[in-house]
Amino acid sequence: MHTMRSIAVALPLLTNGVLAGLYPGLSADNHTCELSDPVLSCSEGAQPGIVDTCCVETFGGLVLATQYWNTYTGLESEGQVLPKDTWTIHGLWPDFCNGSYTQYCDLSRQYDPEPYPNTTTGTPDGTPVEPYNGPGIDKLIEPFGRWDLLAYMKKYWPGLNQPSHVLWAHEYSKHATCFSAFDTECYGPAYRAHEDAVDYFATAVSYYRRLPTWGWLAAGGVRPSNDTATRYSLSEIQGALAAGFLELPYVGCSGPRYNTTEAGRGSADDGYTILTEVWYYFHVFGRPQNAQALPVSANATGGRLSNCARMPGAIWYPERTEGSAV
Ligand SMILES: *[C@@H]1O[C@H](CO)[C@@H](O)[C@H](O)[C@H]1NC(C)=O
Ligand SMILES: *[C@@H]1O[C@H](CO)[C@@H](O)[C@H](O)[C@H]1NC(C)=O
Ligand SMILES: *[C@@H]1O[C@H](CO)[C@@H](O)[C@H](O)[C@H]1NC(C)=O
Ligand SMILES: *[C@@H]1O[C@H](CO)[C@@H](O)[C@H](O)[C@H]1NC(C)=O
Ligand SMILES: *[C@@H]1O[C@H](CO)[C@@H](O)[C@H](O)[C@H]1NC(C)=O
Ligand SMILES: *[C@@H]1O[C@H](CO)[C@@H](O)[C@H](O)[C@H]1NC(C)=O
Repeated sequence: MHTMRSIAVALPLLTNGVLAGLYPGLSADNHTCELSDPVLSCSEGAQPGIVDTCCVETFGGLVLATQYWNTYTGLESEGQVLPKDTWTIHGLWPDFCNGSYTQYCDLSRQYDPEPYPNTTTGTPDGTPVEPYNGPGIDKLIEPFGRWDLLAYMKKYWPGLNQPSHVLWAHEYSKHATCFSAFDTECYGPAYRAHEDAVDYFATAVSYYRRLPTWGWLAAGGVRPSNDTATRYSLSEIQGALAAGFLELPYVGCSGPRYNTTEAGRGSADDGYTILTEVWYYFHVFGRPQNAQALPVSANATGGRLSNCARMPGAIWYPERTEGSAV
């Protein structure tokens, strides 16, 4: 679901042809951030060489907290269900300040069993991202004893047609590795393997908890319904979300294009018609982990606000499948 943002050529520096952390040569010392000012990402001063890259986000300074609205998981029979009356976590993404992005920035932290795209650039000339086939990332972080975090992730971060831990590993390896503040050196000389993954998951959760998409929509009168008479306008959805978030997030739709549906036949509106995603954009003060974040509009860097149909009453916010949400 990244197709609306443009992919930039991967920037991580190459050392002997192997991708390493974002800033090779970075020492593991002195990154408690106690002595550093919470400089705002994407501001003039948020540059490596001026600030500690562990304490101010210098690589992926446009932070996206992304959420899904799915109507089933596909693995209900294995107990993977959706949480009732709430959207679910997709991930936390580091876009460049200009709105483009890269992915899989540190192949030494590749735990994604189904890498997508399968090269670092998304084009055949990029470095291949090999599928990981070891123990699930949930197993790798169990030794930290953060059972409450894992339980929260199981509930609010479910995969679609794949075990949830595959989605978590995908988000971690594809995106967390492109934040300067999640580089392993940032965790000090006593860094313990996968500590950054635990930190990334906890951080994604902390953003999610401040972004009650279901409640914001409901407060604006936008509720899931499979009644064919109940359809919403993009402007209603945007109005409801902006009343809560105070800026316009990106609203993503899937399903048929409006002008291929009966209601939209003959229309020039070829936007999609089923509400499925919301992406909240931020600049962040200091480490993204602090979640001291300044909402910015999704079009602030020239990006689109939505791929949904714009005709009034064109969008379906579907009810979840019976038994999928508990
Ligand atoms: C860490 O801080 C100490 C005390 O200020 C200083 O002596 C040392 O050079 C610093 N190390 C690095 C790698 O910045
Ligand atoms: C956006 O910023 C990144 C990182 O600085 C850069 O690599 C890329 O070329 C820029 N893209 C555009 C379209 O300016
Ligand atoms: C990546 O996927 C494409 C399309 O599925 C395939 O043609 C290509 O061989 C794959 N490349 C690598 C490096 O696996
Ligand atoms: C839908 O709209 C697009 C853009 O206006 C147009 O190119 C396309 O031909 C239309 N398709 C149908 C089936 O009307
Ligand atoms: C973003 O979209 C809003 C609403 O359509 C518009 O008023 C604003 O000018 C846009 N901002 C930019 C930077 O394009
Ligand atoms: C509502 O429609 C969606 C999309 O077709 C479907 O997946 C879901 O099961 C339906 N929910 C109910 C309660 O009928």
